[in-house]
Amino acid sequence: MTEADVRSGQAAGAGGGELAGGGELAGGGELAGESELAELYRAFAAEHLSPLWTQTGDLMPPHPRSRAAAHVWRWKALYALAERAGGLVPVGRGGERRAIALANPSLGGRPWATPTLWAAIQYLGPGEVAPEHRHSQHAFRFVLEGEGVWTVVDGDPVAMRRGDLLVTAGWQLHGHHNDSDRPMAWLDGLDVPFAQQVESGFFEAGADGVTDRSTPERSRSERLWGHPGLVPLSRLGPQRSTPLAAYRWHHSDAALAEQLALEDEGRPGVIEPGHAAVRFSNPTTGGDVMATLRAELHRLRPGTTTAPVREVGSACWQVFQGEAVAVLDGREVALSEGDCFVTPSWVALQLHTAVGADLFRFADTPVLEALGLDRREVG
Ligand SMILES: [Fe+2]
Repeated sequence: MTEADVRSGQAAGAGGGELAGGGELAGGGELAGESELAELYRAFAAEHLSPLWTQTGDLMPPHPRSRAAAHVWRWKALYALAERAGGLVPVGRGGERRAIALANPSLGGRPWATPTLWAAIQYLGPGEVAPEHRHSQHAFRFVLEGEGVWTVVDGDPVAMRRGDLLVTAGWQLHGHHNDSDRPMAWLDGLDVPFAQQVESGFFEAGADGVTDRSTPERSRSERLWGHPGLVPLSRLGPQRSTPLAAYRWHHSDAALAEQLALEDEGRPGVIEPGHAAVRFSNPTTGGDVMATLRAELHRLRPGTTTAPVREVGSACWQVFQGEAVAVLDGREVALSEGDCFVTPSWVALQLHTAVGADLFRFADTPVLEALGLDRREVG
């Protein structure tokens, strides 16, 4: 039996593994007898103990090694299946939502896009109503196509249209109703897996319908908060989640277009050549819209290649329009409108587009930043 056998527990059949670095053997470096060691490891197991020196490098790897793999979901397939579900599965109390989650195959069949992020396509047919409820998990909706649905957030009806980001912060009552004669589908993003891992979830049902079926052009939230650079004096002070329920496409589109126009004029603004980007922000803090979720839009000019970026934490992307190629740790994936993909922690992402593309992105970075665990590497 070698010293390595002792440290790795192989004498007791405890499995191999990398050596713990540089430590002295228990007993002042003298090798214990094989039977005594075997007995020691059996005693550890009986007391539900696990000695550090038998662990593999998984406990403290040199850099994050996500158990999640990068994965792509095709919008065409997502939409077609959501449409089929629309004809077969009713929306109502209990199931709550006709939402179909992106289940990353590397995460054991759980409805998790990444270890911290939930993403789903939600589908609501003409005249249908998704009943009100609230949960401590933060949520948003991002609309790829269609209109005609209002999401009612704490009694405030908010119109949903293509390109809009609609925010439902944790514990806000919300339901949806489709006032049109056409179905509508959108992307839901939540921190459900994170809440499951830290066991923080609460849920409560609300009205079986929605409390306000009116269909205003602008929500009360937007009338109060939706004016660039202006905050109402009646609501001064930081709020943990954004009080603005809707971020409209015409604002996002103009912000991205102006960054590229400034680049054309030789002025600063873009994040790198050909790459405009904006983050959705909480007007009371300038920070992220919710404590656990970051949301951004990126626009790439035709012919742009971004620098490779890796970050601690995971992100989910959706191509809003155009086409692009994502290079994920060297693996190329061609993307079309609506396609969703995820970047697990510390997986490098580079984007290239021949024809130009707009991409929506959401990530768990605010959690990591709050804990001082964020790290980012470009190039
Ligand atoms: Fe919900």
